[in-house]
Amino acid sequence: MMNRVVVIGGGGRLGRLLVGALARRGAQVEVVSRQPAATRHRLPRGVGVHGGDVRDARSLTGPLAGCGAVVFAAETGFADDGPDSPRATLYEGVANTVDAARTGSKAPRVLLVSQICVTRPEHPTNAYGRLLDWRLAGEEVVRDSGLPYTVVRPGWFDDAARHGGIRLDQGDAMNGFIRREDCAETIAEALASPATVGVTFEVFNEPAPAAAAGVHDWPAMFGALDADLDPVR
Ligand SMILES: NC(=O)c1ccc[n+]([C@@H]2O[C@H](COP(=O)([O-])OP(=O)(O)OC[C@H]3O[C@@H](n4cnc5c(N)ncnc54)[C@H](OP(=O)(O)O)[C@@H]3O)[C@@H](O)[C@H]2O)c1
Repeated sequence: MMNRVVVIGGGGRLGRLLVGALARRGAQVEVVSRQPAATRHRLPRGVGVHGGDVRDARSLTGPLAGCGAVVFAAETGFADDGPDSPRATLYEGVANTVDAARTGSKAPRVLLVSQICVTRPEHPTNAYGRLLDWRLAGEEVVRDSGLPYTVVRPGWFDDAARHGGIRLDQGDAMNGFIRREDCAETIAEALASPATVGVTFEVFNEPAPAAAAGVHDWPAMFGALDADLDPVR
């Protein structure tokens, strides 16, 4: 596991689980939050918290300098335009993150938390500030960044979902749910794997028996994924 992983949105529901999953794997984890004092109370001791907002490019430069990896897990507002719009967070905010990640002497890994349906603009979710269009535009910024990236597209979050196995897929053709806990484990494993560099994939819970839960052959699962090729995503 690379050292110093910065999680933007690390005080959120997925973010907190990811911070725990990374720390259990021995990573030094830091978080970027718009409200660092409140976020600090919600995280384990030893996790550094920086004040920052993805819509403010300058606020990211210091926290990301010299990091080994950055995870973008920020949620967006749903306004049609302005600072609470998907454009501001999921496109411009992702672009600001990529720019800040590039400023260091060593290129960090960048992992973007996206979602399923980004290539399906007819989905009702897109009525909220063209959320899906801007998320896809953010994905493209990451894929074109020249940085070692991974794009993870979780299914719909349902933390009460039956705790089945984890299924990875590509091509954004499936629908399904994923527990945030399983999503966090997948992201932590993906960050530790060279096989996920330059890869976009979806993640779901499978309706598998509970006995299968927690036992995953990550090298085989990641090894079965295809690297992104233009123009196929
Ligand atoms: N809901 C779903 O079904 C679903 C499915 C797939 C993917 N996703 C995506 O997965 C990610 C995590 O979801 P979640 O439900 O766990 O999120 P969440 O609990 O709402 O937490 C998201 C975090 O984003 C941070 N944030 C918001 N705006 C920010 C900004 N401008 N700059 C920096 N940080 C900002 C907030 O942190 P602070 O308040 O501390 O700044 C918040 O804690 C989101 O991108 C979400 O859209 C959701």
